[in-house]
Amino acid sequence: MNILVTGGAGFIGSHTIIELIQAHHQVVVIDNLCNSNPESLRRVATIVGQEIPFYKADIRDRQRLEEIFSSHSIDACIHFAGLKAVGESVSMPWEYYDNNINGTLTLLDVMRQHHCKNIIFSSSATVYGSPVEIPITENCPKGQCTNPYGWTKSMLEQILTDMHTADSEWNVVLLRYFNPIGAHPSGLIGENPNGIPNNLMPYITQVAIGKRAELGVFGNDYDTHDGTGVRDYIHVVDLAAGHVKALQAIERNCGLDIYNLGTGKGYSVLDVIHAFEEANNIKIPYSIKPRRAGDIATCFSDPSKAYRELGWLAQYDITEMCRDSWNWQRNNPEGF
Ligand code: NAD
Ligand code: WQD
Repeated sequence: MNILVTGGAGFIGSHTIIELIQAHHQVVVIDNLCNSNPESLRRVATIVGQEIPFYKADIRDRQRLEEIFSSHSIDACIHFAGLKAVGESVSMPWEYYDNNINGTLTLLDVMRQHHCKNIIFSSSATVYGSPVEIPITENCPKGQCTNPYGWTKSMLEQILTDMHTADSEWNVVLLRYFNPIGAHPSGLIGENPNGIPNNLMPYITQVAIGKRAELGVFGNDYDTHDGTGVRDYIHVVDLAAGHVKALQAIERNCGLDIYNLGTGKGYSVLDVIHAFEEANNIKIPYSIKPRRAGDIATCFSDPSKAYRELGWLAQYDITEMCRDSWNWQRNNPEGF
C-alpha cells in the first residue's frame, strides 16, 4: 500500500517506516519537525537502503496536504503527528487542542476529499484514565484524563468513531500504546527528547551517560509490589510492527477497530532500574521523590485481542528494551 505517515520523523514514526518498507509498502512522510530532526529520516534511509519521500509541512496546512494528496495516490494514513508532553499540555492547552484536534480535522477533511478513508491513529493508554480493570482490555471504559494531552487523544478517538458511524467507508484503527521504550537495534535511531526528559527511560539513559546526576523515583508508597508505579513497557520496534499488522485490518475493511499495544507485563520503576543495571552493567543512582501529579499506581494491558485478530505479539523483553535504549544513547550522546 501507499502510506502517508504523519509525524514520521518522530520516535515511533521513524521506527514504523522501517517496518513498513521492510513489509514492501511505500511511504510518504509529512512532519513539521517541531519535535524531531530530519537526520532521523536520513538514518532510516540508511537502514532500509532507499530515500524516504518527505514533506516538511504542518498537518494544519490544508494547502500543503492538498498538494501531497494530489501528487501521491495515498491508500491509507498512519497518523502519528501530534504534541505529546503531558506537563506542557497543562500549561499550553490551546496549543495542544489546536495542534492535535485541528490538525487531525484538517487531515481527515483532505483525506475524504481525496477518497482516502483509511486511517490508523496513535492513541494511548492514557484514554483509560484510572482504569477500572487490570490488565486493561479494550472493553475497559474510557476514563477521566488528567491532562489536556490525554483529552486530545480521547476526543480524537470519539471524532474518528463518529466519522466511521456517519460514513461506513471509513476504516479506522485506534491503537492504544502503553509505554514505548527501546530503540532500533542498529543504534541509529531512537528517542530524542528536548530538554529534561519527562519519561522514565530517557531519564535513565541520560543518568547513565552522565548528563544527569540521579533519577528521581516519583513515589514509593503506591499499592504495588515495591511501592513504585507499575507500567507496561513495550519495545518501539514491536510497536512499529503492530502498525504493519493493523494495515491488514484496513485491507479487509475492518470498519472501526481498537487494539491495545502492550506486552501484558507490568514492571515497577525499581524493576526497570534494576533491569537496566543488569542488562548494561551500569549503576543508576536514584532517590525517592514525592508522587508526580496525575500518576496512577498500575497500568498494564491485556494485549490478547491484537494477538487473536492481528496475529501481533510483542517479541522483545525488558532486558532487550534496556539494552537497545542504552545502545542508542551511548552511540548518540547528544541525540541526532
Ligand atoms: P514524537 O514527538 O517523537 O513524534 C511526533 C512527530 O509529529 C514529531 O516528529 C513532530 O515534529 C510531529 N508533529 C507534531 N505536530 C505536527 C503537526 N502539526 N504537523 C506535522 N507534524 C507534527 O512522538 P512519538 O513518541 O513518536 O509519538 C507519536 C504519536 O504517538 C503521538 O501522536 C503520540 O501522542 C502518540 N503516543 C506516544 C506515546 C509515547 O509514549 N511516546 C504513547 C502513546 C501515544
Ligand atoms: C513511567 C513511570 C512515573 C519519570 C506517559 C504519558 C502517557 C504516555 C506514555 C503518551 C511512572 C515514573 C518517571 C521519572 C519516575 N504517553 N517516573 N521518574 O506516565 O506512564 O506515561 O508516557 O501517550 O500518556 O502519561 O510514563 O515514563 O513518564 O512514567 O519515577 O523521572 O516512571 O512516576 O510510574 P507514564 P513515564
